[in-house]
Amino acid sequence: MNKFKIGQIKEEKYISPELHSQFIEFLGNCISEGIWVGEDSLIPNYKGMRKGVVDAMKRLAPPVVRWPGGCYADMYHWRDGIGSKNERKVTWNENFGTYEQEENEFGTHEFMEFCKMICAKPWLNVNMLRGSVEEMVEWAEYCNRSEATTLSGERERNGSKEPFNVEYWGLGNECWAGGGNYTAEGYAAEYRKYASAMPNFKPADFLNPIEGLELKMIACGPDGNKPKERVNWTKDFFSSLGKYRTPQIDGYDLHFYNWNLNNQNEADWYRVINSCKELEEVIEEQYHLIQEGISNFPEVEGDFPGAPVTCKLIIGEWGNWHWSAFVNRPALFQQCTMRDAITTAMTLDIFHRNSDKVSMACVAQTVNVLNALIITQGEYTILTPNYYVFEMYKVHRGGHATELEMIESHENIYSFASVKDNIISISIVNADIDAEQEITLTMDCPAEVICGRVLKSDSPDACNDAEHPNRVITKQAQSPVSGNIFDWVIRVPAASVSVYQFKKE
Ligand code: AHR
Repeated sequence: MNKFKIGQIKEEKYISPELHSQFIEFLGNCISEGIWVGEDSLIPNYKGMRKGVVDAMKRLAPPVVRWPGGCYADMYHWRDGIGSKNERKVTWNENFGTYEQEENEFGTHEFMEFCKMICAKPWLNVNMLRGSVEEMVEWAEYCNRSEATTLSGERERNGSKEPFNVEYWGLGNECWAGGGNYTAEGYAAEYRKYASAMPNFKPADFLNPIEGLELKMIACGPDGNKPKERVNWTKDFFSSLGKYRTPQIDGYDLHFYNWNLNNQNEADWYRVINSCKELEEVIEEQYHLIQEGISNFPEVEGDFPGAPVTCKLIIGEWGNWHWSAFVNRPALFQQCTMRDAITTAMTLDIFHRNSDKVSMACVAQTVNVLNALIITQGEYTILTPNYYVFEMYKVHRGGHATELEMIESHENIYSFASVKDNIISISIVNADIDAEQEITLTMDCPAEVICGRVLKSDSPDACNDAEHPNRVITKQAQSPVSGNIFDWVIRVPAASVSVYQFKKE
């Protein structure tokens, strides 16, 4: 028996839509074949972008997309991907077993076009390993300068008179590993240089603050999967940044993967599900370390103290990583199942519950790589069970978390509730591999059911592919039954994710 009670709205927990952001990279078939098929392809496309992917993403309207990596960002030179396609540099991509030619057909303009089509904001990650400060400055100038300069002129000749107004800039990726094997202090020194060199795109006017593009600088946070190293990295990074004057820092990007075997036996099922929960502790720990680090920043002497630093915790990469992804070709491809949908739902709920601590999160990755929402097979575009979770969970965006007291709860039931415009949205994950569960939900006021959707399948390891594209899809859920206007009885099937909405009267 499960008994939940809806309580007070938590005003401090606004659910930023940016918690539902995406990540795409030149790995395996994420971009080539996945998003980018080329203008001349027989596969239906908009300006070279696969129609199936664009349409599905448009429906989801992800707030932010991070690109070009990941590790690839540290070998990416933006100039290789602009100008006439025939003249673009051909490079070699050796990341994560991709090991193939990169023709650079999908570059800055194509990425901006993709973001425009799906109504997402771009996040560009700069090359801090093989690149230079100068290269980053020129990329920012090329993207954002509206005034007439040589670089904005070049952008115009390449098809965009209007600046791209890129707000989010990631400075380095996984700098503790492939991004340079830096020490936290060494990275902090580089970060100071890059952040300080970043151009400004609105005139400084100290007396009359004006509207304009404010860039957000995102620093490389730790490896969330290394319990000792991640504490040291964050402590050392912020303590280095706190020596003398502090450069601009708006975000701190932590990565967390849920590593797992590919087997789908019962023990593995629960191990994978339980492992994804660790992220909640990591968020708690890292959030407090960031606050502590900032509180030790020195006060600026003199008449211009500057604004207080607020640095948001971001989870720039997250998701399940099957071992098979290392050996599969195309690289990092894995078949996401109902089990992945369950951990995807649980992870999004961790973000929602901690929306006062995490401001943005990007799933790794959108198409054909790791915890993908979409896979493509030749001409087919297939939505994975993860896609449906993101779609169902859209109802939480822009709401506020609300108290959900678990008076009695089965160990495999996970839940979260939010409120927006008098509508309560409640997500319920039943991670039990074979038992249906009954939940009694008590409201704090009279309410009526608006709708209920459920994602479940005929078997917990079921997935969607070209032959069975609709094996795991959302359906209308069994209607909750009410004894009175406060108490509702909901039945959730085994291995399922459900979302119900109630209107407060
Ligand atoms: O998402 C795949 C890879 O995982 C990214 O390139 C890297 O940042 C991480 O290690």
